[in-house]
Amino acid sequence: MSDEKREIEKIKEIFEREFEGLSGSVKSKFEGLGLSALEKLQKELNELRVKHTGKKSPLSGAKKLIGKVAPDQRAEFGKFVQSVGKTIENKIEDAEASLKSRIQKAKLEREKIDVTIPGRRPRPGHLHPITLLRQKIEDIFVSMGYAIEDDREIETDYYNFDALNIPENHPARESQDTFYTTDGFALRSQTSTVQIRAMERRGVPLRVIAPGRVFRRDTPDQTHTPMFHQIEGLCVDKGITMAHLKGTVSEWLRRMYGKETKTRFRPSYFPFTEPSAEFDFSCFKCDGTGEFERGKCGTCRGSGWIELGGCGMVHPNVLKNCGVDHKEYSGFAFGFGLERMCALMYSLDDIRLMFENDVRFLEQFR
Ligand code: DAH
Repeated sequence: MSDEKREIEKIKEIFEREFEGLSGSVKSKFEGLGLSALEKLQKELNELRVKHTGKKSPLSGAKKLIGKVAPDQRAEFGKFVQSVGKTIENKIEDAEASLKSRIQKAKLEREKIDVTIPGRRPRPGHLHPITLLRQKIEDIFVSMGYAIEDDREIETDYYNFDALNIPENHPARESQDTFYTTDGFALRSQTSTVQIRAMERRGVPLRVIAPGRVFRRDTPDQTHTPMFHQIEGLCVDKGITMAHLKGTVSEWLRRMYGKETKTRFRPSYFPFTEPSAEFDFSCFKCDGTGEFERGKCGTCRGSGWIELGGCGMVHPNVLKNCGVDHKEYSGFAFGFGLERMCALMYSLDDIRLMFENDVRFLEQFR
């Protein structure tokens, strides 16, 4: 055998050794391989192709030798080189083809969707019970011609107390009862502050309700939380009397709890109203009888009445503080808490439930 032929044999041998290493893994490990491993193999195979059939490969060097072989042996040598080249190319092509189909299969596998699996139902959220209650009350008052007033939760002492005719020495001003910021502002302890803001901003006559958060330094328990919600109502016009107040509150509560609902006022005291009253309404659970299912009604504790809030005729000093002529104008105001109302309506024995954001609780108000 000529030297050239031996050279070619060597090239073939080297290729086969290297190819075996690779094709061994191509064929046997193949089955369990993931997509990225298969793709890596494809890259290796490509490199092998370049190395053994590319321009700089020993094979292409051997092809150049053909012309140098003695003429009588040239044809045979040429054929031999060709056949080795073909063998190499065929092997690589075979491996490539099967690798390609394997990769295809792996890709399909990965993208497979089982359309028979039941879908996951989206769980849309819903409004908080306090929001639902607030909206219901807002709707009623809006239908009676009231505007909704929104205002700040951090107030000066003036708006939280002074303008509301709350005297200098009133216990509510104590830092035991009211939260103060380090620079002396108060977190409003009642939505009555909005009475002042609304009269300053809108002037009179006006009819507004002001829902919002209020803050008091209470230790949380079943009936207290340091933050809760109130709704304040204010109506100022010429000739407004206590009868308008009673009529408005009664009408609102009838629309809330049914036509038969009764309202009663008990004399009380608030610095910002004169006269002042607390208002109760007949229990919606026992229809004011105090008895429910042959026992004492749990909602009104047998009294037949539910205490809800405070109200009264706006104190002349409050009107004066807002630049309103109290001889020409008069008004009424009322205020109540939403958490208590909500707790009664849903028989909750702990208002803290409304702030814990436990979905098992909240889901019941869908
Ligand atoms: N601000 C009072 C409170 O937080 C409730 C209240 C009483 C509001 C009488 C009023 C009112 O507007 O006239 O207890």
